[in-house]
Amino acid sequence: MKRILKTLGILILAIVFIVFLAASFIHFKGIPVYDKAEIKLKVELTPERIAKGQKMASVMCVECHLGSDGKLSGKHIPDLPKSYGNINSRNITQDQTAGIGAWTDGELYYLLRTGIGKDGRYIPPYMVKFANASEEDLLSIIAYLRSDKPVVQASSLEPPASEPSFMTKFLSHVAFKPVPLNPNPIPEPDTTNQVAWGKYLTTAVYQCYECHSADFKTNNQLNPELSVGFFGGGNKLLNLNGETIISPNITFDATGIAAYTEDNFVNTMKSGKKINGTQFQYPMLPHAALSDGELKAMFSYLKSIPKISSQTALAN
Ligand code: HEC
Ligand code: HEC
Repeated sequence: MKRILKTLGILILAIVFIVFLAASFIHFKGIPVYDKAEIKLKVELTPERIAKGQKMASVMCVECHLGSDGKLSGKHIPDLPKSYGNINSRNITQDQTAGIGAWTDGELYYLLRTGIGKDGRYIPPYMVKFANASEEDLLSIIAYLRSDKPVVQASSLEPPASEPSFMTKFLSHVAFKPVPLNPNPIPEPDTTNQVAWGKYLTTAVYQCYECHSADFKTNNQLNPELSVGFFGGGNKLLNLNGETIISPNITFDATGIAAYTEDNFVNTMKSGKKINGTQFQYPMLPHAALSDGELKAMFSYLKSIPKISSQTALAN
């Protein structure tokens, strides 16, 4: 008996020691670094691309990267739950040292598709990725970052480096992975098919599903429709007072947005005023830059996907 207890004791000590070693490894190694493919790319700056990129960035980049000097010089990200750590975005102006002036177009392309930056460091899911956006849309974002628009001109401001939590580092080793690069250029969506176009806009470009599914941790960036509780809401976000705000269900269930007509949806998305009469709370933003056609396509797609009852979505 004594012998068994002794063996058991040694075994437990050994396990505790191994767990301690693994935890220290993750703590000190931080967010993993990956090998990256070199992409040869020189984006041609056309007025069409810059305008398209500006529109996408107004919804997809500005909120997280707009610094105190009115340029995309980076800032603290307030809506991310504290369990992720203290996270700041970076300066993405054309400054050679503080910003991304020294990045090649290929490096920007690779980061936006996969989440792997210039130095090989992986950016966890708190930064959006465009695994499924069309080639032309991706090049448009890059063209905009390289353009003569005032917000992307060089700024030397820099926010403090992020301090990811142990949870973020741990998950970045075991669960969060870079998105594999699709080797084939992704074609433009078929804008004559409302449902297909709406799917493209809500999952590949504006990525509404990221906030409106169950949890960032169970979202699937490569195949968004496989995300747990796809569009059924339940993701815990923070508003500007640091209070938890649970993303609503935007499937067409009675516990979702079944009461919205197409007109209601378009007006709400543009003005930020919901059908119950109140304004959107942060981090939901009005999407004034989108056209009626784009918003109607989103409506058609949301109407076409399986309805989820909020109770079920929240239980996940
Ligand atoms: C939800 C917030 C968020 C959004 C939206 C967002 N970013 Fe970021 N971005 C971040 C954070 C946070 C980091 C830094 C992460 C870190 O500390 O590792 C970052 C880092 C970057 C970097 C790396 C810069 C460097 O010096 O390492 C680039 C480039 C970038 N973002 C470009 C963009 C572009 C372009 C868009 C829009 C298409 C965008 N981001 C949208 C939060 C965001
Ligand atoms: C950054 C996270 C985030 C993103 C991205 C996001 N939403 Fe939201 N959304 C929210 C939150 C949080 C609310 C709740 C706001 C409130 O109640 O005031 C909300 C509310 C809504 C509502 C109102 C629902 C109701 O109950 O009246 C609609 C409609 C909506 N979002 C649609 C969209 C669409 C379409 C997109 C993509 C173009 C999108 N959202 C992107 C977080 C987000």
